[in-house]
Amino acid sequence: MAAAELSLIKPMKCATIKFNTPTTTSKLNSFRPKPMIPRASASTATPAKPKRTEKGIKETLLTPRFYTTDFDEMEMLFNTEINKNLNQSEFEALLHEFKTDYNQTHFVRNPEFKAAADKLQGPLRQIFVEFLERSCTAEFSGFLLYKELGRRLKKTNPVVAEIFSLMSRDEARHAGFLNKGLSDFNLALDLGFLTKARTYTFFKPKFIFYATYLSEKIGYWRYITIYRHLKANPEFQVYPIFKYFENWCQDENRHGDFFSALLKAQPQFLNDWKAKLWSRFFCLSVYVTMYLNDCQRTAFYEGIGLNTKEFDMHVIIETNRTTARIFPAVLDVENPEFKRKLDRMVEINEKLMAVGESNDNPLVKNLKKVPLITALVSEIIAAYLMPPVESGSLDFAEFEPQVVY
Ligand SMILES: [Fe+2]
Ligand SMILES: [Fe+2]
Repeated sequence: MAAAELSLIKPMKCATIKFNTPTTTSKLNSFRPKPMIPRASASTATPAKPKRTEKGIKETLLTPRFYTTDFDEMEMLFNTEINKNLNQSEFEALLHEFKTDYNQTHFVRNPEFKAAADKLQGPLRQIFVEFLERSCTAEFSGFLLYKELGRRLKKTNPVVAEIFSLMSRDEARHAGFLNKGLSDFNLALDLGFLTKARTYTFFKPKFIFYATYLSEKIGYWRYITIYRHLKANPEFQVYPIFKYFENWCQDENRHGDFFSALLKAQPQFLNDWKAKLWSRFFCLSVYVTMYLNDCQRTAFYEGIGLNTKEFDMHVIIETNRTTARIFPAVLDVENPEFKRKLDRMVEINEKLMAVGESNDNPLVKNLKKVPLITALVSEIIAAYLMPPVESGSLDFAEFEPQVVY
């Protein structure tokens, strides 16, 4: 997972950008979606079902997004001639770890998948499909961004560039595995179409670092929490993909640790009052986006035996504690008032959705939405203004990359 949990943030600049994503890379080919033919008709002349494309997925403010950045500025930041803070030996150690490729043989499917998918019927089936689609889009978003960073930084900093390429390998695997999961439901996301047709949200490099660090770490905590819960409660193991989360989340953890090393190499992004404000802003955006998203999908979390809000708060608190090691300030998410504010946002969001789905004419809908949006924004600002927790340290000696279980 990467760079996809920030949908609440208003894009600063949007552009449809064609990435020069190499299509001949063997790693990429290994997960490229194939035209999906419904199983029942695979051997007949029945036309194939259309692939799921962006148009087939309901787009909302909270839909996972694709990101792009200022690659020239990135090149400056990673030029060892210009930036003397780059700890090349740390990056080389990280590169060694990525090259080890712990999960090379991890993502292998078995017949359990299709059988489990066939058993999933009714509303839970639909919600599983949506889970797979959203997760696949989020993973694929990371793949595109890292692939391009790997390509663009090759000359300036080959070590950092190679790490980005290896991270894109991981995200490609994750996206591919999820897309194969969709095939159990006789669907496939057309990732090629998504690459071309999606709007890319532009973030300056500094914001890419904050956002991606958080996305990776929150991804780690989500996956490991679901994995541990299902291990303890196997009766809710309704689809085998969750069994893969333990090793999978270690990829996300390593990705997050790499961004932590990148941030350390850019102390200007960590050591002033602006960094503190931005850190809190990105934490809030990521946490609120996840909370609102998940509360819209309680059926999914309840379907695997979780209490959505308890699960989310656990993930938020753990992510925040991890983030506090590197960000100069974080939110006081363990203050009960923070959760109360999140719950009020959920209530307002539900009212907003009800207005959106009503039969009123567009003008009436908009008039009804104004006070609700105002209330939602007020809650978000109030949460942002809660007294923060001072955190982080530029002396990172004890925070070396490590496998966390
Ligand atoms: Fe991933
Ligand atoms: Fe990742």
